[in-house]
Formats: sequence, structure tokens, C-alpha cells
Amino acid sequence: MRVYFDYNATTPLAPAVTDAVVQSTRDVFGNASSIHHFGQQAKAAMDDARSAVATLLNADPSEVVFTSGGTEADNFAIRGAAEALEAGGRKHLIASAIEHEAVLNTLKALARRGWRTTLLPVDASGIVSPDRLREAMAADTALVSVMHANNEIGTIQPIAALAAIAHEHGALLHTDAVQSVGKIPVDVRALGVDLLSLSAHKFNGPKGAGALWIKRGTRMQPITTGGKHERNRRAGTENVPAIVGLGVAAHLSAGKLSSEAARVGALRDRLEAGILRAVSGTAVNGAPDARVPNTTNISFERVEAESLLIALDLEGIAVSTGSACSSGTLEPSHVLRAMGLSTHRTQNSLRFSLGMFSTDAEVDRVVEVLPRLVEKLRGLTQKPVGARG
Ligand SMILES: Cc1ncc(COP(=O)(O)O)c(C=O)c1O
Repeated sequence: MRVYFDYNATTPLAPAVTDAVVQSTRDVFGNASSIHHFGQQAKAAMDDARSAVATLLNADPSEVVFTSGGTEADNFAIRGAAEALEAGGRKHLIASAIEHEAVLNTLKALARRGWRTTLLPVDASGIVSPDRLREAMAADTALVSVMHANNEIGTIQPIAALAAIAHEHGALLHTDAVQSVGKIPVDVRALGVDLLSLSAHKFNGPKGAGALWIKRGTRMQPITTGGKHERNRRAGTENVPAIVGLGVAAHLSAGKLSSEAARVGALRDRLEAGILRAVSGTAVNGAPDARVPNTTNISFERVEAESLLIALDLEGIAVSTGSACSSGTLEPSHVLRAMGLSTHRTQNSLRFSLGMFSTDAEVDRVVEVLPRLVEKLRGLTQKPVGARG
């Protein structure tokens, strides 16, 4: 039995998405910019996808710009807004310390080009305080970027309160909603944001497709130059089959958001409780309540997370040490570090993230296997110095 509990890294395609991607790859090959039948067929397929994404976000289809995924959407949001606002004398950017690398490294790149940047601290459960944002705001702040849900711990930020503060100072608010879209309701009007990033492969859509939602009237400088695609906002011939897949994934999510959140949440809670009960020296990282329903991040005292991850993999169980980009290195998680956890605890934490195909039997399997593996690893590290074997 193989168990996949790494849905925050990526998700398998929903069957209806696979069918739609295959069908459009085969049958809808026109260039969506072409005037003839083949082009119009591709454009119509994209229009359907745009409407589905807009419906999921309570947005207008004209506000949805397709991108190659979450990373490009984050880049476009920050670089596009920064460039558009620079001429007005705004030269300061703010993000939380626990953002994905797509945001953090974009800020670093802009800092090298003369932008001032501020990283907001988080509390012990990984939440950004509106008061901290108020203190960090300056007269020349162009944009505040705070993720909706964190990829490593699942914590949900008070985005509406943060957006209100950004707006009081005439700045834009961007939220990276890559880990919340498709898991919890995401309503751009209720959140009060100006820019929102999403990525299809995090909610059973294909890789290489995503979108940036841009509130109507927001001034943005395109980051790719070329043709007039996406109303002059993102040049380049569109990947129609992937966009179609994104649309189907969005449509499916909108239809079963609350039932699926309840089902996956119950599985996650049973997994979490089972692990805490079965394995001593364990603790959950992150906010217990303000969390997406599919994620739990657990510390295992006196166990090196990479070793446990490999031991689980040998048993056919796939989990993560946090962000996929930083696994393979022993770098402590920047998220757990920002929460003030000890160095040891930042290196002994595993992320379990569930989703569409997760089952009770998989939860049972993980709870059954973990105590033995943890005990074995603890035994190895506790061998007295000089012991053989
Ligand atoms: C919070 C967050 N933002 C952005 C990304 C990047 O998205 P993509 O893989 O579509 O480029 C990810 C993916 O791990 C993520 O978790």
C-alpha cells in the first residue's frame, strides 16, 4: 500500500481534469489569438476556464490573468505592481517572514535594485499581527504581500485586516493563495485584496498553470513583453490544455468545497490525534484553529526529520519536511524558525498534507507504522559513544 500525504507539494489530477486536458490537447490545438475557427475554439475554451476561476474567487472573469503557475503569479504581482508604482515615488515593499520563496526571492531581487524591503515577524503559531504591519507601513510603501495559507504549517492569515491597513496607507495588498484556493472558500471581495495568486497543481489541476487575479483598475506593468495576450498583461501564446485543466479543477472545487473540507479535515484530525497519542515527544506546529483542513506539521523529539522521511518512504509513505524546494538540504525551515522554534525543533518536523484521494485506511497505516520507525531512529541516536554496530 502506497500512501501519498504530500498534497501541499503537488496533487494528483482529478479524473475529470485528466479527461479535459487530454481532450483539449488532442482537439483544441488552435492559437487563441487567431481569428479563424481553430483560434476561436481555443479562445472559447480559455473563456470557460476564466469564468470557472472567477466563480471560485467571486471575481469577474476580466480580472483573471493566466500564468505558468504560482511562482509566475507571485513574480507578476510583486514586480508588476512595484514597477507601476515606482514612478509615483513608492520604493518600499513588505512581506511576511514565512512567505514562499517565490515571494521572498522576488523581494530580494528587488532589494538589489534599490527597493527597501521589510519582513514582518510572525507569532509562535505563525500568524502575522495587524499591529506589526501597522508599525512597518511607511509613506512610500507600494505593496504588502502576505500569504493566505502557509504551505508548511497551513496557518491562515487575517488577510482582510491586513488589507485594510495597507489601503489606509495607499498601498496594495497581494496574497499568495496557492495553498488556500480549492481547500477553503477564497472570496477576493471579502478578503479585500488587490492581487491574488493561485496555482492549478495544488488543487488537482495540471502543473504549469495558474493565475493572478488583478482587481479591476489596479495599475500593473507586465513582466513579459511581447504580444497582446491576456489584455496586454501577460505576453506569450497560452498553454490552452493546461488552462482548460485549471478551469475544470476550479469548477470541481467550487462544487464540493465545504463537503471536501469537512471530509479531509476529519481525516487530518484523526491522523494528528493518532500520531500524538501513539508517539511520545510529539507536538503540532502552527495555529490549531486558523489552519487549512488538510495540513498538519508535527515535531518528533530526538528524531532527525530527513531520516524519518526516508524511513517512511521505505514503508511506501510519502510526506515532507516542509517546503519541497528546501528538502534535500538540512536547512532548518525558515517558517518554523520565524515562529521562534528551537533549532532542534525546526529540524525534527514533518508535514503531512492530505487531499482528494486520501482515505481512512491510509491514516490508519501511517499511525500504525510511525511509532516503530520513531522508536528505531531514537534508539540509533541514543547509542552510547563508542558503541559498536
Ligand atoms: C505558498 C506557495 N506559493 C507559491 C508556490 C509556487 O507555485 P508553483 O509551483 O505553481 O510555481 C507554492 C508551491 O509550492 C506554494 O506553496
